[in-house]
Amino acid sequence: MVKYAHIVGWGKYLPEKVVTNFDIAEIMDTSDEWIRTRTGISHRRFAEEEESTSTMALAAARLALDRARISPIDIDMIIVATITPDYPFPATAALVQDALGATHAAAYDLNAACAGFIYGLSMGSAMIEAGTAKVVVVIGAETLSRILDVEERGTYPLFGDGAGAVVLQAKDTPGGVMSTVLGADGSGGEHLIVPGGGSKTPTTRQTVDEHLHFMRMNGREVYRFATRVMGKAAKEAVEKAGLELDDISLLVPHQANIRIIESARKQMKLGKDKVFTNLDRYGNTSAASIPIAFCEAIEEGRVNTKDKVVMVGFGAGLTWGATVIEWGITMPYQRRQWWYRGLRWLVYRRARIRSMLLRLTRWLEDLIPGEDEYEPLEPKEPANNGTHHPQLTQETPDKPVKETLETDQPPNGK
Ligand code: COA
Repeated sequence: MVKYAHIVGWGKYLPEKVVTNFDIAEIMDTSDEWIRTRTGISHRRFAEEEESTSTMALAAARLALDRARISPIDIDMIIVATITPDYPFPATAALVQDALGATHAAAYDLNAACAGFIYGLSMGSAMIEAGTAKVVVVIGAETLSRILDVEERGTYPLFGDGAGAVVLQAKDTPGGVMSTVLGADGSGGEHLIVPGGGSKTPTTRQTVDEHLHFMRMNGREVYRFATRVMGKAAKEAVEKAGLELDDISLLVPHQANIRIIESARKQMKLGKDKVFTNLDRYGNTSAASIPIAFCEAIEEGRVNTKDKVVMVGFGAGLTWGATVIEWGITMPYQRRQWWYRGLRWLVYRRARIRSMLLRLTRWLEDLIPGEDEYEPLEPKEPANNGTHHPQLTQETPDKPVKETLETDQPPNGK
């Protein structure tokens, strides 16, 4: 039977620390006026020192699960869309899986920059429609302040930190994620990039001195690309969902620049009241921007039962993505009782203790050798002409390799 991927939970997290345009104007050659008129941003949030992408992702995911009334053990997959993971590896999603106590969940990170959340929704809903998952948590989370160059006024004022999450659940009733459209154009990769720290240019003292571990952007080029793809991708997603633009109740665009959003709105011929923006408060939070905006739209009562909502994003890659969802939850949403939240607190305490016990067990296993203890292969006598190959010498101790190869030759083989 066909399954539909419904959004049944939503949550966001924003760090406490507010950084205003005036704060930025104190440390670099810019002004509140320039930033506001060129981008629409007036302040943004920066993570505290002890915060990171995983801690913010976790906070958003917990809230989303609470609202969905879904226990972490029922999650099949956790996808974290991010370009600022805690580590190159392990995946931030795996850290979230552990902290949630999502013992049955697989977990991976997805790098499609600011389109990442839409990519994640697409992957998650496809798993549900294919019947390989019942519950998928899709998170967009970023700590962009850690890759901003304080000497670069072209990028520093534009970005912020935060996280947003949704819970997708398989249902029999039509609705939820109705369509997704994804795209990429790697030929424009150099226009929005962190050039250092990867396998191409590994971190050295020189790469750090040259600030290659920070984000670099060709603003004009990205602007041109964004205005070209935003409206187009959104319109394609609407068409793919079998809808008309008039059917759309709300557009939740990636919050990068108010002028880019305005251009998409005009291309879609939507009224101003049908577009949700919050970039004045948070700046561009990359993969987190759409889920944060979506959560705020719900909180502000802008999303009602049966509404068709379009989300659209673009970003480094270059990538883009758009989706249409039908909102299936009866609004207004009833906040959970205090006892429910208390119960959840206990669930997450248990997850923490479980994680600590697993670490302790690993440590003890190191101390006390068990039956499945790792044993190095015993060194064998060197095979023919001194070439040592443990597997071949074990399986074909007497037969020279050459002979086997000869019998494999076709009858007339040369
Ligand atoms: N404060 C003051 N002046 C600044 C500045 C700042 N923070 N940043 C750049 N400038 C200057 C430039 O140096 C340039 O000066 P010049 O004319 O003397 O060379 C001038 O402002 C105009 O620069 P320009 O790049 O033409 O500005 P713009 O109107 O295109 O706006 C962006 C710049 C970055 C806001 C705009 O290009 C943009 O939003 N691009 C898309 C970025 C984006 O969305 N990125 C995220 C993708 S997910």
